[in-house]
Parts: sequence; structure tokens; C-alpha cells
Amino acid sequence: MAKKGRVFSGIRPTGRAHLGNYLGAFKNYVALQDDYECIYCIVDLHALTTVEDTLNLKQNTYDLALDLLAVGIRPEETILFVQSHVPQVTELHTLLSMVTPLGKLTDLPTFKEKVRQNPKNVNYGLVGYPVLMSADIALYKTDLVPVGIDQAPHLEFARETVRSFNYRYNTNVLIEPLMKIAEVQKVLGIDGKEKMGKSLNNHIELAASPEETRQRVMMMVTDPQRMKRTDPGNPDVCNVFTLHKVFTPKEDVEMINVECRRAGIGCVDCKKRFAESLNKALESFRAKRAEIAAQPDLVPAVLADGADRARAIAEKTMQEVRAAVQLP
Ligand code: TRP
Repeated sequence: MAKKGRVFSGIRPTGRAHLGNYLGAFKNYVALQDDYECIYCIVDLHALTTVEDTLNLKQNTYDLALDLLAVGIRPEETILFVQSHVPQVTELHTLLSMVTPLGKLTDLPTFKEKVRQNPKNVNYGLVGYPVLMSADIALYKTDLVPVGIDQAPHLEFARETVRSFNYRYNTNVLIEPLMKIAEVQKVLGIDGKEKMGKSLNNHIELAASPEETRQRVMMMVTDPQRMKRTDPGNPDVCNVFTLHKVFTPKEDVEMINVECRRAGIGCVDCKKRFAESLNKALESFRAKRAEIAAQPDLVPAVLADGADRARAIAEKTMQEVRAAVQLP
């Protein structure tokens, strides 16, 4: 079947993936493979802009690639590669930086937030983060970029950067990408309050053992208003119920919905059931992950092949770009 166009997305290598990564992004990446030619890039250069992320860069990159393959990224069709393996992106980054007003970068809410979080590490690379991201997208002549809502300003920036470049050099070699904002709402952590993430240690890893998963699930905060087992609960404000809806068979979800509201089922029982359905849902992922991990050469081979295919596209674009800029 003819594909509808090319999808590109960059994923930061922060190590083993959790439920938030899966529901917020990976599930969508897997589904897009059916209709689009997909390129997924582990953005190690972007990770270098923040010191915390550089510590285990190699291991984190491997773990992320492993999780992506286990979750259903198909490397025979899809290109999965590591950003720094295709150095053409740094060349395009330099050229795009020439059409980027500095004030636009320092005005971005994402940049201001990083400065607030880490005022001592405001490096040049960090300021240029969105330019590098624009280079990622433009280098592969991307039609569509699936991202979370937090990345929307960066995507808008990338679109403008492509327009500025094409205008300045009177060309149309670069393609203005469309964005596809993920429909999923944000996944809350086991605290039931904050977005699930590693830094808050409120996450549940996809690759955790069934027993670890059960322990994390039993720590989950439920309806905060429900104090006693005999109080009726409100599933509408319960994070466990929200996730039941994703992982538990429909009839059981309906039973929990009804029974919770009339205190027929307690939170402990509800969480036990959730741990069961989650472990069941992750069974095939975990089996596949173990199978891939048992072949230590497999992930490096996939990434090397991905880089070769990505490089071919990238070099072709760069030849056109260099010509458009009239580099001597
Ligand atoms: N900035 C993105 C994030 O933090 C990662 C990223 C890098 C990206 N390059 C990209 C996303 C290109 C989409 C397209 O999640």
C-alpha cells in the first residue's frame, strides 16, 4: 500500500521507558507505521544540552532502542537511528542558525523554563536546541511530526525556520512540516498528581518485573476523598481507574465503575486487579524485550542499519541545501 508521507520524531534517551512514554508517545509511533514511512531518532545530541541526561548516554540509548523495538517498532520498514550517527544534522543546524533571530530563541517558553530549572547551565547548545530540532525535521523532508503538546512551540518554530530558510535562499528544498499533537491526555504518576516521569520517581517502567509492577501499583494514590473502605469512591477522579480504562477488559472496567461508587470494591482490591491487567498487557512486550536483549548484537545492528538509511536521505537533502545556499 502506498504510504501517506513521511513521519519523523525525535525521542530523548532518558533510559528505560515507562507507562507515560508508552501511552503518550510510543503507542502512537507504532500505529503510524501502518500509514506512513516512519523515521524515529534517538536524540543523543539534544540530551547533551542538559547535564543530567549525559551521564548514562550509551546505556540509555541502548535501553530506549530496546524498548522501542519490543513495543512494536518494525526496523525492516521504519528507520530507527541515533541522531549523532548522521552528522549532516549538525551541518544543517549551522546553516539554519543563520536565519534564526536570537531573540526568538530566548523568548521561547521551553527555553525560559530550562533557564529557571538550571540557571548555571545556560549554554549555547541549549539556546540552539530548537534549531537542532528544526534541522532534524527538515533534513529528512518530514511531512508530519507526532509530538506531545509541550513540543508545539518547537514545532511552530521549526515551521517558521523552514519558511525563513526557503525565503532567504529563494528555494523550496526544505519542507514545512505539519504537526500531529498526541490525543492522549497526560498520564499521571503513582502520586496521582504530577505527570508521570523519572525525575519525580512516580513512574512504572514497562520492563519492570511483574512483582515490581505490583508493588508500584499498590503504592498508587486513588480517589483522595475516599478515606475508609466503606466510603463510596469516585472513579472519575481516580488515576487507577483512568488506567484501568486503558488496560483492563471493558466488562471489568464497568464492574469496577459501578462497585467503586457503592463501596462494593475497595481501593486495595481495585489496585490488585489493575496490577493483574497491567502485567497481562505487558506480557508480550516483556517476552519480546527479553528475546531481543538475549542477542547483544541485535540492537547495535538495527541502529547501524537505520543510520545508513537515514544518512542516504540526509546527504541527498544536504546536497540540495548546499547548492541553495550557494556554498562555494
Ligand atoms: N524536543 C523533543 C522532546 O524533548 C525531542 C526532539 C528532538 C524531537 N528532535 C525532534 C521531536 C524532532 C520531534 C521532532 O521531546
